[in-house]
Amino acid sequence: MTKFDKIGYWSEVKLDIIKEYAAAYSRILNSWRNPSFTHVYIDAFSGSGIHISKTTKEYIPGSPLNALNVEPPFKEYYLIDLDSDKIESLKEVVGDSPNIHLYKGDCNPILLDDVFPKVKFGDYRRGLCLLDPYGLHLNWEVLKKAGNMKSIDVFINFPVMDINRNVLWRDSEKVSVERKKE
Ligand SMILES: C[S@@+](CC[C@H](N)C(=O)[O-])C[C@H]1O[C@@H](n2cnc3c(N)ncnc32)[C@H](O)[C@@H]1O
Repeated sequence: MTKFDKIGYWSEVKLDIIKEYAAAYSRILNSWRNPSFTHVYIDAFSGSGIHISKTTKEYIPGSPLNALNVEPPFKEYYLIDLDSDKIESLKEVVGDSPNIHLYKGDCNPILLDDVFPKVKFGDYRRGLCLLDPYGLHLNWEVLKKAGNMKSIDVFINFPVMDINRNVLWRDSEKVSVERKKE
């Protein structure tokens, strides 16, 4: 059994924002006619599906579960995580359904080789792709590819803390010990 992530209030706010965005996206894509689209949800850093709120200590649904509860629903779901325990937990949480595709592994090659080719502009398929890494683990080739496809909306949770910690400091020796422990 996986240990669920304990998340702070800022992550709960993030989940609410993504939930609202995904609902609006699905509503708009679902209502489109001539042509009509097959719209899919892609969660490249899915997590285990459930978290524990540091504030309330209660279980709260993660981004894949929120997307699965969106009405009208997405037509297909592509959920990826590197961590095998998290994928096992996610499998239990989302259940077995022919339109839910789970992948265990590094999302970067999986997106480029397996998932994005299923969302081609000319096939009237469109995708909302959530990129929600813990830190600066984004492969910019993935973003370039998504942009060039013109069929994929990317929602990035930009890791500002990691950027402050690792990019903006020219000399990491000047970072205080307390800051390094954050
Ligand atoms: C911030 S959590 C995702 C939380 C989830 N989006 C949510 O809001 O419920 C980041 C996840 O990315 C996974 N991860 C880290 N590197 C990865 C990679 N290269 N490919 C796929 N998953 C990765 C971690 O195992 C972790 O579960």
